[in-house]
Amino acid sequence: MILVTGGAGYIGSHVCALLLAMGREVVIADDLSNSGADAVERLEKITGRRPLFCRGDVRDTGFITGVARTYRPECTLHFAGLKAVGESVRRPLAYYDVNVGGTVTLLRALRRYGGRRFVFSSSATVYAPSEVMPLTEESPLGPYNPYGWTKFMAERALLDLVAAEADWRVALLRYFNPVGAHPSGLLGENPRGTPNNLMPRLCDAAAGVTPRLSVFGLDYPTRDGSGVRDYLHVTDLALGHIRAMELLETSAGAHIYNLGTGVGLSVLEMIAAFQAATGIAAPYEVCPRRPGDLAAYYSSPAKAEREMGWKAEKTPADMCGDAWAFYKKSFI
Ligand code: NAD
Ligand code: UD1
Repeated sequence: MILVTGGAGYIGSHVCALLLAMGREVVIADDLSNSGADAVERLEKITGRRPLFCRGDVRDTGFITGVARTYRPECTLHFAGLKAVGESVRRPLAYYDVNVGGTVTLLRALRRYGGRRFVFSSSATVYAPSEVMPLTEESPLGPYNPYGWTKFMAERALLDLVAAEADWRVALLRYFNPVGAHPSGLLGENPRGTPNNLMPRLCDAAAGVTPRLSVFGLDYPTRDGSGVRDYLHVTDLALGHIRAMELLETSAGAHIYNLGTGVGLSVLEMIAAFQAATGIAAPYEVCPRRPGDLAAYYSSPAKAEREMGWKAEKTPADMCGDAWAFYKKSFI
């Protein structure tokens, strides 16, 4: 049995789709604070198999211990968490509580009843701002917002646990910028409230929900002046979790991997890729830089390829086409 916390959410649901398609038994633990129970039906529609579902909060010792005791998962993929950087600045305690406290509570439950293989959703936000690119797993760490610190601390707790108890096997996966949706159009990102990230905002502008996309800064020291990021398709990212899970079947200890394409794409290049994929020229205007944004960051994913045989395959056109197909199906 594989336990997937946050499995009803954006990335977790894509991983569940792969696990179910592989014939694995899956139990999702999710409080649905940022997702809907229909994820279970959608997964069944896509794969023909239904995951088990337990609704509850990973911070709730009684709940999560009950899940571990009942299902005795041999491996846990931990997606449940809060992820909005801006909100983490306004509500730091909520972020530390869920992302650090929730992870510790879950680990305690697994320590008692579950297997000791654990795959953790970390983020490129753990790296210190730098002009040296690409970022490797050895690049200096130093988050610059509370969200990033919560990921840093949860990583640290996991590394300390592995050092203390040799039977734990842990993969820390540092995602760059996940975008796109399931090719079926049934799973995707469903941001609550006003989206902050580029792809949902690009879709809003393409749909006419907003008059135009604000391009935050055209005066960065990049190819065309707009910000550069390492966008990766969520199905590629999902596959990275399968590879990590497989690695833990044979490798002891802690393993850290960047999951990105290794290729930086600018905001203007993304707008062009969107047009090429969908035929829609999203209107945009150039605005001042967004406070806190970096000019460019992208990964070196070489270690993940070398050690796990994982490499992102999908193109920017796939990312835009699939994001738009999901958006049209869900919101128009
Ligand atoms: P998401 O919000 O779509 O999914 C998270 C899921 O966890 C949701 O279904 C939510 O209901 C659930 N959840 C939240 N708090 C919970 C709690 N206390 N108990 C139980 N369930 C809870 O987010 P996502 O984009 O799928 O992100 C998944 C993980 O990946 C998060 O840990 C996030 O920090 C990390 N991550 C995401 C990105 C990104 O850009 N999306 C980038 C880097 C890292
Ligand atoms: C943000 C988070 C990061 C998180 C990532 C993926 C911050 C500081 N960082 O990163 O922790 O892992 O999302 O969820 O919030 N842009 C526009 N117009 C828009 C929106 C974005 O021009 O309307 C630009 C940004 O300036 C940036 C690029 O698009 O250059 C990507 O932005 P975004 O999708 O928000 O991701 P990040 O800023 O990389």
